[in-house]
Amino acid sequence: MIAIASDHGGYALKQILLDHLAARGVPAEDLGCGGEPVDYPDYAGKLCRAVLAGQYERGILVCGTGIGMSIAANKIPGIRAALCADCYSAEMARQHNDANVLCLGGRTLGSELAKKIVDTYLDTPFSNAEHHRKRIAMIKDLER
Ligand code: RB5
Repeated sequence: MIAIASDHGGYALKQILLDHLAARGVPAEDLGCGGEPVDYPDYAGKLCRAVLAGQYERGILVCGTGIGMSIAANKIPGIRAALCADCYSAEMARQHNDANVLCLGGRTLGSELAKKIVDTYLDTPFSNAEHHRKRIAMIKDLER
């Protein structure tokens, strides 16, 4: 199960992505907002804590640029949030960084590109290579 959340700046793209995930048969839960003006750190916190609690396999956060969501999400120990604007980055975010949250810009990305980025992110496994595991462990050390 995937969690998805947005602020008002990401709401329109989130709706498109929810339809896309449903069409793909990917179970997804919308953690808000409903389009009203909100503060993106509230939604980043809500989604990331739920991912860390094991309620969701991974999460997708959408704000106007994806920047605010990624800054907020990466403050939470255990979260590796990747702001992606291209498919190669989405692939590497999974393969090399084992990113557990994808951040997208609702005002910066076209919807077709955003769908491809989401598909790439969801379909790419972590490489599990020793050197990548070591670097992720080093990131965990930085959290202490
Ligand atoms: C909201 O206007 C906007 O600041 C927010 O969606 C996001 O882009 C912040 O990084």
